Amino acid sequence: MLDVQNAPAQPTVIQREDYRPPDWQVPDMALDFDLDATATRVKATLSVTRNGAHDRPLRLDGAGQKLLSVEVDGVAVNDWRLDGEALVIPLSGDAHTIETEVEIAPERNTQLMGLYASGGLLCTQCEAEGFRRITYFPDRPDVLTRYKVRMTADKARYPILLANGDPIAEGDQEDGKHWAEWHDPFPKPSYLFALVAADLKPNRSTFTTMSGREVALAIWVRERDLAKTDHALHALELAMAWDEHVYGREYDLDVFNIVAVDDFNFGAMENKGLNIFNSRYILADPDTATDLDYDAIAAVVAHEYFHNWSGDRITCRDWFQLSLKEGFTVFRDQSFSADQGSAAVKRIEDVRTLRAAQFPEDAGPLAHPIRPDSYLEISNFYTATVYNKGAEVIRMMATILGRDRFRRATDLYFDRFDGTAATCEDFVACMEEGGEADLAQFRLWYSQAGTPRVTATLTHEEGSDRATLTLEQSVPATPGQPTKQPMVLPLRLKLFGRDSAATLAPERLVMLSDPREEIVFEGIDERPVLSINRGFSAPVIVETNRTPADLAFLSAHDDDPFARYEAMQQLMLDTLVAAAAHGRADHAAVVGAVRNTLADGSLDPAFVAEAVLLPSEAFIGDHMPVVDPDRVFAAREALRRELGKSLAPEWRSAYDAAAGEPYAYNPAAKGRRRLKNVALGYIAASGADDAADLAFRQFETCDNMTDRQAALSTLANGTSDKRIAALDIFYNRYSDNPLVLDKWFSTQALSTRDDTPAEVEALAKHADFTLANPNRARSLVGAFSVNQRAFHEASGRGYRFVADQIIALDKLNPQTAARMVPPLGRWRRFAEDRAAKMRAELQRILESPGLSKDLFEQASKSLES
Ligand code: TRP
Ligand code: ZN
Repeated sequence: MLDVQNAPAQPTVIQREDYRPPDWQVPDMALDFDLDATATRVKATLSVTRNGAHDRPLRLDGAGQKLLSVEVDGVAVNDWRLDGEALVIPLSGDAHTIETEVEIAPERNTQLMGLYASGGLLCTQCEAEGFRRITYFPDRPDVLTRYKVRMTADKARYPILLANGDPIAEGDQEDGKHWAEWHDPFPKPSYLFALVAADLKPNRSTFTTMSGREVALAIWVRERDLAKTDHALHALELAMAWDEHVYGREYDLDVFNIVAVDDFNFGAMENKGLNIFNSRYILADPDTATDLDYDAIAAVVAHEYFHNWSGDRITCRDWFQLSLKEGFTVFRDQSFSADQGSAAVKRIEDVRTLRAAQFPEDAGPLAHPIRPDSYLEISNFYTATVYNKGAEVIRMMATILGRDRFRRATDLYFDRFDGTAATCEDFVACMEEGGEADLAQFRLWYSQAGTPRVTATLTHEEGSDRATLTLEQSVPATPGQPTKQPMVLPLRLKLFGRDSAATLAPERLVMLSDPREEIVFEGIDERPVLSINRGFSAPVIVETNRTPADLAFLSAHDDDPFARYEAMQQLMLDTLVAAAAHGRADHAAVVGAVRNTLADGSLDPAFVAEAVLLPSEAFIGDHMPVVDPDRVFAAREALRRELGKSLAPEWRSAYDAAAGEPYAYNPAAKGRRRLKNVALGYIAASGADDAADLAFRQFETCDNMTDRQAALSTLANGTSDKRIAALDIFYNRYSDNPLVLDKWFSTQALSTRDDTPAEVEALAKHADFTLANPNRARSLVGAFSVNQRAFHEASGRGYRFVADQIIALDKLNPQTAARMVPPLGRWRRFAEDRAAKMRAELQRILESPGLSKDLFEQASKSLES
């Protein structure tokens, strides 16, 4: 750990190995809330039982509340003490009733953890450790409790009172208040507790489960937003049916409620029977939400619903096991989305996300295994590694087992661990037993960080009928893990004949488990081309000895859509890395491959749109020994211009094919829209005189946000006089819609223009900018920090801006501030002039007074060498 003056008082490192079962269990609890935005009273009645033979006192976590009283078995006591913020009560017997009363202030809660106010309503967020900000409790996921909740609140202001479980009773009082009681029959950890007091309206539906039970579904939003909830409600119904069909999992309460709130640290939360959502993952209509928004809404609604089994019925023993619920649930939501539209395009998108968010994490100072070994602040471990790499690890097991054995294994898991707090090891053991597989070495995926590298060398001597594939693997060193063991890498591969395009060796699943293995193929009578890691069967980096011509061949002939996409990406990447490194740019192979793809009428337009997009600047940078953001940008823009120019007629006809088509929301229409807007981008990149007019016409005449935002981005990246006009029109049209204003901010923060750093600094002073709302903060600061060239402007002003915002945000919302650190932590990837400036900003963050534990952990780890 660094020696820093401002380190928060004794930050304790929590170690996975230190796990001990809880000293006391709490089988039952009654909570009584007297709700008020400025001062809420919480009475908690806990039945506690001693767990095992020991003489340790009861220890209840707490944070930030005012303690009013403590009773044991109905008698006020004063032999309790506070240890830090924990309430410690000595108890003589093995079972007692503890009653506490506290006061909390939701309105002053800017961290958005615990009970807080958002847009006039009151709601909770307890994962991971927010419940302790509501009442004193053993706030750890292996304490499972049956909750009875009573809420009293002003009826005019908060006509709707919701909590977990089923509604039991409600009534009015004479003082203008009303009350409601909810009971949740399923024992649950405190992080799944939720309540909402609000003036909201429901969009309702009913779902009949496979065993014939009726469930009342409702999505609660402001009355004016009701019309924007049909898509989310429909997605919920689809998800409920899908989980029955694919995993045999049925919903278990009489009601399922979803509430949308504007101020939320994350996407959404799976509280039992009462999911609470960031409104951006609920609200959609064609005028305000893009196709990507629609997809994300369905994915997040499904994700939170799937948690009812993978998270709520079976929860985590401790927070090191977070991937048990998150990795599995992401895998489940990815599979669900794949089943709703193009599975190939979904896989491409998921791999792109993994490479954009997780690979850099695995390659940087914050690298950790999907089951971490230690943390200072658990909020910092809701990462792409735990979520997305965690999902890849589940996917690999599903691949290894095959569909039927995987289903038997998940059945066993759900059956055996229902109602308990489980571990990742429990899950893997069920995969082995139910799936009849040996996963001993595979378990390394849980303990080793870093993205494995595979080198695949295919040799074939002319005239010979045998080919040899040599596979070598290595796992890079990561912080705290200098040496690694070889892992199990399931690689789907196949050989094609370069001349005949025929299959020379049919697809097989190779389990690479040694550092080096050779595979010999017989009967290879023409030059073979290797298709490897088909479907991205393992989350690894593959290097091959394939030539540009081989890649071009695969981009035209591979029958695995992901591998076909990947061949094109590799060809583009090799071209761009060479261009950025040595200014050497031979665009011909890429232009030819893109031309072929655009001409192939058998392809789904949604696939074509993904395949013809160039790799991102960040991804190109990831493949250079030292990232030079300006040269990467220049190389990529040059290729874009070349593609735009050489294929001008193709882009025009791709554009015209879908231009003017009335809006519809279905996979085919979405795909045509996507290709049209990719084409618009290339037309603009070509420098065509009419590009700005074309974009502006689309901007003004379109009937949906996908087209409008695409046109706006095109204009915002350019220099035409239409740019300011479009931004102003957009702003005025949507000035009362915060989710669309977020797009207005992020479009400008992502602009490729030279003046983006200055524009972003000015936007931070805009009347509509606020750090208090996480979506808004991310829309400007978060978006800017992934705009590689702008963020890394040589002057360092981008670094200074982001650090200033992080320091300011930490005062309000440490969790959201800490999540903005990683881009600054990538300094090792840049030349010393930039790296020194990035380190200086991290150092300045560390020296800021009153630094949170969250931010301290991220900034200090980012500086460690
Ligand atoms: N469990 C939530 C999910 O993945 C994540 C989440 C919601 C969260 N709110 C949070 C994580 C606040 C940390 C802090 O579905
Ligand atoms: Zn989740």
